[in-house]
Amino acid sequence: MFARLLGKVIREKPAAVLGLATGDTMEGLYRALVASQSDWGGITTFNLDEYVGLPLEHPQSSHHFMQEHLLRHLNVPPRSVNFPDGLAKNIPAECEAYERKIFAAGGIDLQLVGIGPGGQIGFNEPTSSLASRTRIKTLTLQRRKDKARFFGGEEQVPRHVITLGIGNILASRQCVMLAFGVRKAKAVAGAVEGPITSMNPASALQLHPKATVFLDEAAAADLSLGEYYRWVHDQKPDWQKI
Ligand code: F6R
Repeated sequence: MFARLLGKVIREKPAAVLGLATGDTMEGLYRALVASQSDWGGITTFNLDEYVGLPLEHPQSSHHFMQEHLLRHLNVPPRSVNFPDGLAKNIPAECEAYERKIFAAGGIDLQLVGIGPGGQIGFNEPTSSLASRTRIKTLTLQRRKDKARFFGGEEQVPRHVITLGIGNILASRQCVMLAFGVRKAKAVAGAVEGPITSMNPASALQLHPKATVFLDEAAAADLSLGEYYRWVHDQKPDWQKI
């Protein structure tokens, strides 16, 4: 369904600027986008984050993930593909340059985010400033433990990342969050129905003028108004349906 929404955005604005995310959650969506073979010739992409100090060809780099799962299968011109440079010598200057590139591209039309079990969006770990911009972040110990198996041990997991901030995500014209599986249920409920708090960075999306959340049943399990959301969805006029 989200692939259809994205297809609509691209049809309506063939030169759209997309904010893209990595992670298991995105794999099915990217498969659907590749299968749809829509025209990405005019699209510009900005990825949310990248590990600091990790070679681009490392299987866990955002760069590698995006090439494998999406970009190399589409006709998006390489010059229109952007990642924060985790190998930059001067990280603050790189973060500023990334901000300037997004501004020069006209801002992000559609930002895609997953959600971590602690409510993380991008690598904005709990207690991230809700006004934050692109910057270096230190991963939580839990996040590094969770990633250890992908890096061949906890010691190998980078300590730092560059990530778009919550302020950048809120500045996008439209934001879509995807979450699947029971592991995400608590964070999703907190993000959608809880108070806005930096302890659950995704709760900041309540301040977004146009945010949509796509969930499976398991990820939606802890929502207290689930029945109401379903009813609202069923009542949508045709023009509002995806
Ligand atoms: C990475 C990112 C992260 C992930 C989140 C969920 O670009 O944005 O916030 O979306 O950690 O990861 P998965 O999808 O692997 O469960």
